[in-house]
Amino acid sequence: MTTRLTFHGPLSSARADTIVGRLSANRPHTVLDIGCGWGELLLRVLEAVPEARGTGVDLNETDLGRGRRSAEERGLAGRVAFLAESARDTAHGPADLVLCLGATQALSDADCPTPEALRSLRRLVTDHGRVLLGEGVWDRRPTPAELAGMWPGAAESDHLTLPALLDLAVESGFRPEWTETATLPEWEEFESGCQADQEVWLAANPDAVEVRERLDRHRAQWMSYRGILGMAYLTLVPVRDWTA
Ligand SMILES: C[S@@+](CC[C@H](N)C(=O)[O-])C[C@H]1O[C@@H](n2cnc3c(N)ncnc32)[C@H](O)[C@@H]1O
Repeated sequence: MTTRLTFHGPLSSARADTIVGRLSANRPHTVLDIGCGWGELLLRVLEAVPEARGTGVDLNETDLGRGRRSAEERGLAGRVAFLAESARDTAHGPADLVLCLGATQALSDADCPTPEALRSLRRLVTDHGRVLLGEGVWDRRPTPAELAGMWPGAAESDHLTLPALLDLAVESGFRPEWTETATLPEWEEFESGCQADQEVWLAANPDAVEVRERLDRHRAQWMSYRGILGMAYLTLVPVRDWTA
């Protein structure tokens, strides 16, 4: 399903390279990836920082397997563990670099980023470390009609705006070192890459009703949030001696 994707989100290789450069400059020895999936960014950080060791936690065995195979192929298997476990109340950390890309839901009961999730990230990072938070934000507030076309039960409360996300990070013990948001081409590459293999298969198997309905439904949803749902990448610096 995801053979066309390098990252499991709207992230170009060019932006990833810049992010990895910034994060590597802080010379992390330990990297913890919350809801790592197949951990492409984690592996790129380990390639850039030979003394670093990484831990990725996720519940999805298929994605973890892709991460382990990729680590093996790149000679990184001895420096990274892809663990099948929940990130909620994780015993791993604190780490010098914490990655949390599209995965704050792993740190609290809510689907949108909460003070609880951000405070968890603050506890999981060492005082001199960094957090890279990748989080969906509203690029503009959706109308009720637009929300009705998105995912089932979509609500404005599912995401914050970029200013509100930054405020939440600051209130949770961080300063934003770098703030950036995914571009429309990054979204288009991601959304196309998610569906491309199945679209090509469906064209050759046009009687597969279930697949056609699923792809048509997803396309309609994506067209409803295209240009409205954004993705913020925040490089966060922990404030020293911060207490919740
Ligand atoms: C949108 S994906 C992002 C994956 C990865 N961070 C990336 O950017 O490629 C969200 C991930 O969070 C994981 N996840 C959700 N709840 C989790 C939990 N409680 N503990 C660990 N991982 C969780 C999912 O399995 C999924 O792989």
